[in-house]
Amino acid sequence: MPSDMSLLDGINSLRSVRKFKPDPVPEDKIRIILESASKAASGSNTQPWEFVVVRDANVKTRLKEPMLRTWLERLAGSSGMSPRMRDVYDEATEMLRNTEKVPVIIYCCVDLTRVGKSEEVKYASIYPAVQNLMLAAHALGLATCLTVHGSTPTRGEPEVKKILGIPGHVKLACLVYLGYPAVQLGSPKRKPIEKFVHYDRW
Ligand SMILES: Cc1cc2nc3c(=O)[nH]c(=O)nc-3n(C[C@H](O)[C@H](O)[C@H](O)COP(=O)(O)O)c2cc1C
Repeated sequence: MPSDMSLLDGINSLRSVRKFKPDPVPEDKIRIILESASKAASGSNTQPWEFVVVRDANVKTRLKEPMLRTWLERLAGSSGMSPRMRDVYDEATEMLRNTEKVPVIIYCCVDLTRVGKSEEVKYASIYPAVQNLMLAAHALGLATCLTVHGSTPTRGEPEVKKILGIPGHVKLACLVYLGYPAVQLGSPKRKPIEKFVHYDRW
């Protein structure tokens, strides 16, 4: 992807990539990506985000265990999936199985002591930063996939937090797999806006 991509081009071509080249991501690019995340809006400008950038393959291998185990448990309990959904889930499972080979994993967390008391502000104060992070990566020719593995107790959060040493007052919101894309995907498939936009009233 060209580095001079316009913001609108970036938004319109951002995809969830689940296959990565083994090439490491240069430090300066990781820094630009994180700085872009830090420019996002947050409730009362509290900037409650904390990011744990994991590059060590041994740490990734340890993180994979609780995330993959709980994901496979979920899959075993799910039924009636459409073939399209099944394909997405199969790709998601493969990416998870290859966790230690993905060059960088960024755990995106919220410090609950720095965010407003209202429930609705918590996650609303991290996802704009995560979207910035993914768009910045895309602009730099990198690819990302957001997942919520390890983000709740039933998704292995206690084990993930222990492995990473994340303190109790910090909530894991999501993680982003990051690396150079091994596949080129087309434009995102989305519903036309006429299906969900209402003007002046519903
Ligand atoms: C909250 C959220 C959770 C997601 N969880 C996963 C996941 O667990 N595994 C995965 O491979 N992709 C995950 N994704 C990526 C979506 O599957 C993806 O955005 C969607 O299928 C559309 O594909 P596209 O982004 O390539 O257009 C998640 C995305 C979001 C926003």
